Amino acid sequence: MNPFSSTLLRDLATEYGTPLWVYDAATIRQRINDLKRFDTVRFAQKANSNLHLLRLMRDQGVVVDAVSRGEIERALAAGFTAAPNAQGASGIVFTADLFDHATLDTVVQHAVPVNAGSIDMLGQLGQRSKGHRVWLRINPGFGHGHSNKTNTGGEHSKHGIWHTELPAALAAVKEHGLHLVGLHMHIGSGVDYGHLEEVCAAMVTLVKNCGADLEAISAGGGLSIPYQADEPHIDTDHYFSLWDAARREIASHLGHAVHLELEPGRYLVAEAGVLLAEVRATKFQGGQHFTLVDAGFSDLMRPSMYGAFHGMSVIPADDEVHPSRATVVAGPLCESGDVFTQAEGGVVLTRELPEARVGDLLVLHDAGAYGASMSSNYNSRPLAAEVLVTGKTHRLIRRRQTIEELLALENA
Ligand code: LLP
Repeated sequence: MNPFSSTLLRDLATEYGTPLWVYDAATIRQRINDLKRFDTVRFAQKANSNLHLLRLMRDQGVVVDAVSRGEIERALAAGFTAAPNAQGASGIVFTADLFDHATLDTVVQHAVPVNAGSIDMLGQLGQRSKGHRVWLRINPGFGHGHSNKTNTGGEHSKHGIWHTELPAALAAVKEHGLHLVGLHMHIGSGVDYGHLEEVCAAMVTLVKNCGADLEAISAGGGLSIPYQADEPHIDTDHYFSLWDAARREIASHLGHAVHLELEPGRYLVAEAGVLLAEVRATKFQGGQHFTLVDAGFSDLMRPSMYGAFHGMSVIPADDEVHPSRATVVAGPLCESGDVFTQAEGGVVLTRELPEARVGDLLVLHDAGAYGASMSSNYNSRPLAAEVLVTGKTHRLIRRRQTIEELLALENA
């Protein structure tokens, strides 16, 4: 999806240059609204941790998940606190499988509840902070993702406390004087309904068998979006009803109400964002046509990393309709894998697009999640700027990094 008109994108490219991330506030608000039946929507900010988007989320009643010290500090800077809100949900939860020393200090200092993915974390936390609020992230023994790299369950995944280790984890919670909030499961990104039913059943069985009392359960994230035009939009009511049924069964087993959290990343922001690039060269290599743009995998890594598909459109500089042709869309990096049209495993594909000329704009759709947040400085390219569009207005929410800033850390 591309929520923007060609005129607006052309104006933004002229004003801020390319490559440029552009986000639509209305789409984010709409996606949050889709999920309002869940007691708490906790945004997995790894998908997009721009402070201005975090503030937008906060204004809509969304809380956040953080997976590093930097993400905790971002949440604090955006005005979230670790304290529970009116529904009893903490503004920030830290999810990880380990603590590095600095992050443990930050978690303790700000009393940020911890969603622990290893039993070692419980001992390390308990020694520092008695009564600290903890979730247990359980690996139910299976997982599912849009790529093997986004499958976070099963025995080949490093994530979570293995389901048969739950009694040991509960014993550690008790031994170290921690306060158990609830159980959490996130089996991967791009979960289908079949796996979802399995996770819900696994959550119910675990709670019934473990003997612990809980305030809450978390359904994790993983809600997909239609990257390809023929993919259906997720039925969020169905998604909710499956988890709600699990929650009700758990509540009736425990004899009291149980809070239900959801932890989406991609769903809230993917469709709201595009990456705007300018076509800077076109060429044939033998019979193969290439369209070369000024954004690369240092900006949007998903195609190179997962073979992920992003819809694309061309905004011609001359306003004429150009016939389409099959082309490989690639970036400026000095690396063969810097191709936006590729399948998992690095197989180069072509895309049918209106023939682009130098100076035309290329729009990469559905790039609001895991786009800017996964960018790097590879090839010593500065991080791109980000713009937020709200109705008829727009503003720069991250300026373009300068070369001086890039070199600054090494200026001894
Ligand atoms: N909760 C936990 C514990 C997670 O590990 C993740 C994602 C989420 C929630 C949010 O998942 P989502 O709703 O966004 O699918 N870079 C990859 C995705 C990696 C996700 C890692 N964990 C991509 O671009 O597809």
